[in-house]
Amino acid sequence: MPEMAEVQRGLQDVVALESRICFIDGRQGRLIYQGYDIRDLAARSTFEEVAYLLWYGRLPTATQLEDLHRRFGELRTLPDELGQRIDQMPVGAHPMDILRTAVSALALFEPEETKPGASSIGGAQRLTAVLPSILGQFHRRRSRLPPLKPRPELSQAAYLLYALVDREPTELESRALDVALILHADHELNASTFAARVTASTLSDLYSAVTSAVGTLKGPLHGGANERVMELLDEIGQVDRTEEVVKAKLVRHERIMGFGHRVYKVEDPRATILREWSRKLGEAKGDLRSYELLRALEAVVHQEKGLYPNVDLYSGSIYSLLGVPRDLFTPIFAASRVAGWTAHVLEEYQDLRLIRPTAKYVGAVDLPYVPVSQRG
Ligand code: SDX
Repeated sequence: MPEMAEVQRGLQDVVALESRICFIDGRQGRLIYQGYDIRDLAARSTFEEVAYLLWYGRLPTATQLEDLHRRFGELRTLPDELGQRIDQMPVGAHPMDILRTAVSALALFEPEETKPGASSIGGAQRLTAVLPSILGQFHRRRSRLPPLKPRPELSQAAYLLYALVDREPTELESRALDVALILHADHELNASTFAARVTASTLSDLYSAVTSAVGTLKGPLHGGANERVMELLDEIGQVDRTEEVVKAKLVRHERIMGFGHRVYKVEDPRATILREWSRKLGEAKGDLRSYELLRALEAVVHQEKGLYPNVDLYSGSIYSLLGVPRDLFTPIFAASRVAGWTAHVLEEYQDLRLIRPTAKYVGAVDLPYVPVSQRG
């Protein structure tokens, strides 16, 4: 057997490709999109601006931003056939399964975007604009809410909130969600983005790559953690039970959702910003219960395991305060990360290299074949 390089399980610390889209400094706890620090973007930009930045590599002018806002409004409408198919999907299905299925089905009605290598920024804009509509179509039917309208005047964040909670969001609510969408928009070669790039590297299409990414994001070790953090808060119930519940989980070697990260060795800068928004929104709504439980949880997990919060720790408390049902938390993550997924797919097409690592074979070799009639 030829001598092979050492196995890097989970491809930890493996540098797989060069990219201009996102830089993570895990030791300093810094996150940069196309050269801009996430703290500046979260404080001063919008999801529309960030999506433009990720796709084009520069911030938009006022006219370009207005054009993108208008395009998003135009591209929110679902094909009737897809709306009908979503209406036939089981109301008990998890919205991430609906999203994965609907993105895949959408490709059937938009074949021009699914020719190999044909995918463009137009396809990226379409997928980014339409994900909230897919979620709203499903959620409104299962909740017997009035049918969705495209509402082109609403920003992406306000439209997503309108789609999921069927009311006019306040300025503070729209801004809270807009910041969350900015913070979730990209994160270098996280598992779902890597899945999208692997798909694109075969010259498969953008819709197939996003379908791969949605299926990957669903996992509780990745995008699914935000939903499980809130389930953990239910289990803890009150601040003075935090230490008892966490210690019992750690003894059973269970993971505490919302903590730890493959790259950050200090606090995830997105958690820092989301913690502040969880407090701000909780104060505005007179409900700091989740925020206080999360602060207590942070203290115990750091004391017991030296772990820091990641992006998933506070996001669910914000979505809960906005009235979003828990099983829609990870779909919100997807509605933001689709901007990053599509930016990475387009970058992969520009500098294409089939992604195909190898495995260190540790199985048997040269076994003699025994006919089935002679096997015991
Ligand atoms: C996201 O990659 C990205 O960028 C992802 C993301 C993005 O924006 O795309 O940032 C979004 O996915 C954030 C992560 C959300 N997931 C969770 O919150 C689930 C809980 N977190 C863990 O499962 C874990 O921290 C991972 C999966 C996030 C990272 O795990 P690693 O890098 O594979 O670390 P590891 O499993 O090798 O653990 C190292 C040690 C172990 O201790 P020992 O067994 O060696 O004693 O740290 C412990 C682990 O047990 N550990 C935890 C823990 N995370 C790590 N112990 C308890 N709870 C945890 N959350």
